[in-house]
Amino acid sequence: MPILAIESTCDETAAAVVVDGFDVRSNVVATQVELHARYRGVVPEIASRAHIENILPVLHESFATAKIAPDDLDAIAVAYRPGLIGSLLIGVTAAKSLAWALGKPLIGVDHVQAHLYSVVLETNAHPPMPAVGLVCSGGHTALYHLQSFTEVRLIGSTLDDAVGEAYDKVAAILGLGYPGGPFIDALAAEGSPTAIKFPRTLLKRRSLDFSFSGLKTAVLYHVRGYQGRERPPGSVTDIERRDIAASFQAACVDVIVEKLRRAVSETGARSVVIGGGVSANRGLRAAMAHFPLPVYFPPFPYCTDNAAMSAGLAHLFFQERRFSGLDLDAVTYSALRDSAISPGTHI
Ligand code: KG4
Ligand code: ZN
Repeated sequence: MPILAIESTCDETAAAVVVDGFDVRSNVVATQVELHARYRGVVPEIASRAHIENILPVLHESFATAKIAPDDLDAIAVAYRPGLIGSLLIGVTAAKSLAWALGKPLIGVDHVQAHLYSVVLETNAHPPMPAVGLVCSGGHTALYHLQSFTEVRLIGSTLDDAVGEAYDKVAAILGLGYPGGPFIDALAAEGSPTAIKFPRTLLKRRSLDFSFSGLKTAVLYHVRGYQGRERPPGSVTDIERRDIAASFQAACVDVIVEKLRRAVSETGARSVVIGGGVSANRGLRAAMAHFPLPVYFPPFPYCTDNAAMSAGLAHLFFQERRFSGLDLDAVTYSALRDSAISPGTHI
């Protein structure tokens, strides 16, 4: 059962064809990293324009690579929330147009829920349910209780920065490239994780929420002195940089592992699934190797934003006959706080 999905929530334009929810026949991602790198963050207006330019070539390439004709698809899926409104609209409009023109069902998918599903791609894994889910990326750091991949409830989220955002900001403080996660991950492997004692913000004893802004500020003050004003940028040595990267990463990983422990004990989960750009992090993967429950990470190509995860999740919605109408609308980030994320209507 082949399903095409489109992803345009932030700064990647992507299209993928996935058969039976795990067999990835094409996974095309047009990244806009170079367009946004000089601003060290995604500029929404630039992102929407790039999506308009990229969407048709990406769709053509996705069909050509999958060797599946549009008429042979069973459904068209799209990540319709949460994200940047101008970016979302391009993907949602393209998906609706395709569904209407081909006479195929349309399936709206929550992008964050799709990140959780990404552990199933290629592996066809079946994590024991209920599970605790963590989505850690540039835009989100949130914990979920999963009865299944289609019954997902938010149980904790970040009060300020997402963990990927903290990685990107610390990379900027250290004068590394953008996005910063992979650079810090690589440097951390060469430094000492105990060299600097950065704070671990755990909030109240049973809290499942996160906060990374204090850690980010601690790194800034460590590198540049009090209020970030005493030492000029660039005065940090290579050895210091490695130790800061390793110590920062150790603080992030410690907090994430502790929150996962708490979430498991609160919910009685039988497994843990982790998705989003930061799930590619080697320090996090190494730490979770010792977790007392089975832990599922996505194969590396599906950690960062992609459309295959949405096509895979849409397969489950298709089986449950949860389709969207052509009135499906893009929904921005604020909708993430909805406790139950279950898009689509039953027919
Ligand atoms: O999932 P994603 O592509 O986009 C969002 O939905 O936000 O995640 C991008 C984020 C960036 O902040 C990037 O720095 C981070 O994921 N990232 C990493 C690694 N690879 C990407 N963070 C830590 N370690 C990595 N290896
Ligand atoms: Zn994402």
